[in-house]
Parts: sequence; structure tokens; C-alpha cells
Amino acid sequence: MEKLIITGGVPLGGEVAIGGSKNSALPALAACLLTEEPVVLHRVPGVRDIRTMQSLLGAIGARLERRNQGTVTVQAGKIERAEAPYELVRTMRASSLVLGPLVARTGGARVSLPGGCAIGARPINLHVSGLEQLGCRIGQSHGYIVAEAREGLRGALVHFDRITVTGTEDLMMAAVFAKGETVLENAAREPEVSDLAELLVKMGARIEGAGTSTIRMEGVGRLHGAEHTIIPDRIEAGTFAIAAAITGGDLKISGCAPGHLQALIAKLGQAGVEVTIESESSMRVRGSAGLRSVDVITEEYPGFATDLQAQFMALMTQAEGISLITETIFENRFMHVLELARMGANIRVEGRQAMVAGPRALGGAQVIASDLRASASLVLAGLAAAGETVVDRVYHLDRGYERIERKLEKAGAKIRRTQ
Ligand code: EPZ
Repeated sequence: MEKLIITGGVPLGGEVAIGGSKNSALPALAACLLTEEPVVLHRVPGVRDIRTMQSLLGAIGARLERRNQGTVTVQAGKIERAEAPYELVRTMRASSLVLGPLVARTGGARVSLPGGCAIGARPINLHVSGLEQLGCRIGQSHGYIVAEAREGLRGALVHFDRITVTGTEDLMMAAVFAKGETVLENAAREPEVSDLAELLVKMGARIEGAGTSTIRMEGVGRLHGAEHTIIPDRIEAGTFAIAAAITGGDLKISGCAPGHLQALIAKLGQAGVEVTIESESSMRVRGSAGLRSVDVITEEYPGFATDLQAQFMALMTQAEGISLITETIFENRFMHVLELARMGANIRVEGRQAMVAGPRALGGAQVIASDLRASASLVLAGLAAAGETVVDRVYHLDRGYERIERKLEKAGAKIRRTQ
């Protein structure tokens, strides 16, 4: 199993270039199922979750061609199997994003229920109830959701009991052909939702209000091919901003969207980190010795992203005072705490709150990654720790970061990957 070996204590410098958003490319790939014409996507990141989604589209019957520099062409000329099998869904829950498109395109779908996940139960009940409101009949058998709408879907008011990112995306794709008007209320406002809506509109869908809590759609007869460039990955950019801060470095982050990171930038500023937005697609982050503790509450966009909580916690271990970090989105997203504690951090967890007392000098250690963003947190702690840190099970990291060690090495970090 591959590991990352990190020797900490080096301030990062120079420049890193951010890739396309994994969490935007995933629904965009699923949306290709909605037309028999080719769809060209640029800036698709070369990460494991994307490869899983590409395998799923292939199993469904789509033809894919990946050119260099992240361009992927998908043509779902015909749907051979409107199904997402367990062996793929269990490795990536976002496979449920094919549910809506398959029902819309073929009138039926059989999608494995995602199993449990390290960070929480993560059911898809809101995806299912939304489809039922559009007139889909849903059953469950042998661990699979079986959806059926032979006569097509009809527009309806869908109110989400709680904000769900992929639930909003799934229903938006399901409703493109639904007869009449569909309104999605209490919809997710993440930039990835807006990016998907932009692609669907390019393909001929009629959607208004993406990026707000109320999305209005008018069903159309069919969708056609399109070409689209995926937005930058705000979580990758945020991770590198925190890497610059925790190492006391001076790093330029290019190819990003600072406008998608306002909550993080505000918190970094309160903590004493200097963030300069240099353009719409670049920012400069300078760490400082005297970091101050700040409190964070994770919230749906535009609040502080849950996907940056673990990384920010690593930073707070180096800050003066007590930082209270509250995780409101997932019920078990503190798996990184015990590993950070093994490196010397002083963190106490009470339910959904973690109290981080700092600054505490971190010492390199052998640590194990448990999920994608927890592993990023351990890499950041390793960059700041004295001595050598070995992060095991980096396959978690590879799900969402494209060869992170190369980008960090280019910025001066002492880091390498081994078997
Ligand atoms: C998306 O997951 C992201 N993944 C996650 O990123 C991210 O952490 C999450 O949104 C929150 O921002 C992708 O976009 C592929 P949710 P998603 O549905 O859509 C509950 C990463 O690291 N819920 O917004 O699965 C759910 O349990 C990943 O890249 C239901 O109860 O998250 C959670 O507590 C990790 N029923 C809350 O809502 C449902 O039907 C928010 O989940 C759906 C969700």
C-alpha cells in the first residue's frame, strides 16, 4: 500500500496550479447520459473518483475518450445497462449521481444503495423522495434502488428537508425532461451545482436560479451535445492555502477561484494569515509565526466548507489559544483527531465539537488516513511537524487530489511517495 513520507519544517514557496473540481466533474460526467450526442468536458481532474465514474459510464454503455490536459469526451449513444452496480457504488457514493439521468433518459434505473462511509451514514433518502415527487415509482430490492417512470416524469415542487449537494444535482438532472415546471426548494447553492446547471443549459435545458435556494426548471424534449470547462477545485485550492499558512510559507495559488473561498479566506485572515487576491483566478497566501486561534462552524455554501474542516483543524494546532470547531454537516468527521493527537496535538472532542488548544509543536509519526480530507489534514500536519511523518493508505488522498506530493514538492516540501 502506497505511503507518503514527509520531512516537515520547510516553508512552502513559489506557485501551485489548481486543477478542475472533482465535485463538479462528477455530476458533469453523469449529465452526459442525458444525450446521445458527444459532450466535451475540459479540466476534468485525473483523480481516482473520476476514474470510477468513467468506469461506471462505460458499464452503462457510454463511450469515453480522455485526451491530455484533462479533456474528456463522453458519448452515451445508447444506454446498454441503466444500472450502477454495488462493486462501483461501494467505492464511490457519488455514483448515485447517475440515478436521476438514467431515469430521465431511459425511464428506469437500478442503482446500488451506497454502503456506509467513514464520515457518516450518508443516506440518499432525499434523492429518492425527490424522484417520487416527480412521479417516479421507487422500490428497493437486494440492496438496490429500483426506479421506474416508463411514462416519463412530470414537473413538481420538490422541497428538500435538508440541503443536499448531490441530491440537488441528481434532481436537477432528473427534471430536465419532466413535463411542465419543476421547482427545487431548499436547494444546495454550492458552485458545483451552478457549474452543472451551466452545462445542462448549454445542452439545451431550461434552468433558472442555480446557486440560490430555489431552482426553477421547465422540461424540454431532448438535450444535445455541448462543450464545457469545469470550474477550479475550491477544496484543493483551500488545502494548499492552509499548507502555505501552516508552514509559514509564501505561496501563489493560480488557476483557482478565490470567490468560492470567501469563508476560508475570512477565517485565515482572522487567524493572522495574509491572503492577497491577485486576480479572479489567483491568490497569494503568506503564513506568519503568530497564528491566532479562531472558531469555525461548518455550514452549507457559502458557509465554511466541511471539506476544509480537517485541514483547518491541523492549522489550529499551531495557533495561540483555543479554537472551537463545530461540524454540522456530517456526524463522524473527526477521524483525523486521534491521528493529529498522536503527532502531539491537543484536541478534545465532545459530540460534534472539537476544542483545539495551541500552539503545540507537532512531531513526525506514522499515521493512517481514514478518508479523503482527513488524509489531507495529516499531510498538512506532517509539513509542519519536526521530523518524519509517514502517511499510510494514501489511496484515500488519491480520490480527490491529483499527485498532491508533486505539487507540494514543486513548492519546496520534502515529500515522496513509496510503496
Ligand atoms: C457532497 O456530498 C460532496 N461530494 C462532499 O464532498 C461534501 O462533503 C458534501 O457534499 C457536503 O458539502 C460530492 O459532491 C461528490 P450532502 P453529498 O448530500 O452530496 C445528509 C469530498 O470530500 N443527507 O450535501 O453526499 C448527509 O448524510 C466529499 O469531496 C441525507 O440525510 O453530501 C449529510 O449529513 C466528501 N439524505 C448532509 O445531508 C440524503 O438523501 C449533507 O450531505 C442526502 C444527504
